[in-house]
Amino acid sequence: MSGREPARGDSTAAIGATAAAGVRNASRPLLDVADLAVSFDNTSAPGAPRVLAVAGAHMSVFPRQTLAVVGESGCGKSVTAMSAMQLIPCPPGRYDRGTILFEGRDILSLSEKEMLQIRGGRIAMIFQEPMTSLNPVYTIGDQIMEAVLLHQKVTAQDAFEISVKALEDVGIPRPRERMEAYPHQFSGGMRQRVMIAMALACRPTLLLADEPTTALDVTIQAQILELLRNLQHSRDMGMMLITHNLGVVAENADVVCVMYAGRVVEYAQVFELFDRPLHPYTRALFASIPGMHDSKHRLVTVDEVVNDPAQFRKLPGADRGVIAWWPFMPKEERPRLVPGRDEYALHEIEPGRWVGCWRTEELEAQPSRRPELQFRRDGASAGVAGAASAAS
Ligand SMILES: Nc1ncnc2c1ncn2[C@@H]1O[C@H](COP(=O)(O)OP(=O)(O)OP(=O)(O)O)[C@@H](O)[C@H]1O
Ligand SMILES: [Mg+2]
Repeated sequence: MSGREPARGDSTAAIGATAAAGVRNASRPLLDVADLAVSFDNTSAPGAPRVLAVAGAHMSVFPRQTLAVVGESGCGKSVTAMSAMQLIPCPPGRYDRGTILFEGRDILSLSEKEMLQIRGGRIAMIFQEPMTSLNPVYTIGDQIMEAVLLHQKVTAQDAFEISVKALEDVGIPRPRERMEAYPHQFSGGMRQRVMIAMALACRPTLLLADEPTTALDVTIQAQILELLRNLQHSRDMGMMLITHNLGVVAENADVVCVMYAGRVVEYAQVFELFDRPLHPYTRALFASIPGMHDSKHRLVTVDEVVNDPAQFRKLPGADRGVIAWWPFMPKEERPRLVPGRDEYALHEIEPGRWVGCWRTEELEAQPSRRPELQFRRDGASAGVAGAASAAS
């Protein structure tokens, strides 16, 4: 793996020109992550191998689309989203390979000065832990207004009104009064809503929402998700929605990306994924969720499925070397791989269905595309959009 130091050219003007030219073309992804790998120094012992947080992730988000990213704790969801804002602390982190194109420009090649124009403006993020993102010594109002003034050419009075409206939109009662409050005067759920208001006040083109509704009760959660949906439509906003809640995925996502150990194990449009999950990990994830009308006494655990090597040889095309990838598969069970290449490949095993597979020679010989799905559940742009290049 080669160390990757992003090029530091100044192209702020070019970015501005691109945005002004209205590149928000619905047929092109807003965000296109290709073969992203991010690692961290391992401080557990001298000379210990680096922690591979993300080890070759592919995904894309189209305008007005919600891409849900799911997977167990530590699989690299937040690191992927933070990378899209170039927010990984380097060191200890390092972008090892890959590209993150936002409106056609590689985020990882932009300078800090260029990122300041984009962060919190055209790309906004709702962080997993709201308290770490709010400054305790400034009022809520000052913090939202600061973000608005930084990214929009408006007067202080306009910024105040935009901020009040943003607080109102996320359901904060008496928003005008609450502009004067400090973060500690708000409950956890209210602070999370303030974070959402801050992110949305700047009218981002792309919203990275990392567990945006975890601290909220179900009523407010539904209200926030509806607000996000409405904004997506009115502003053409794309959203990466990271969540552990498969109910939220089922109701909100257009496309789902399932991650495991820093890789994408499955990528599909939401209805197809729920109807017929293909990778054993995805099947296990779904089987371990209790259903409303479940008469089974005992649910299947993830381990029960993934510890059975036969489960990985059930994919369509298994007789042609299409075997699901799994890092814990015993050596003797693994297929023979292409020598000298990464063991994993995200392969389009059916039109519009991608599964993480072992890189066998037979698999390599089959055509595949990068994971790009333009599907939207409202049907506005349903269909499969494919990139010409093969998935690596
Ligand atoms: N600053 C850091 N220093 C070292 N390792 C890190 C750092 N940030 C993340 N990691 C490691 O990267 C891996 C992926 O972490 P990440 O936060 O992306 O997980 P996640 O999928 O968001 O999990 P969760 O669902 O718990 O939020 C983990 O092994 C984590 O320990
Ligand atoms: Mg996380």
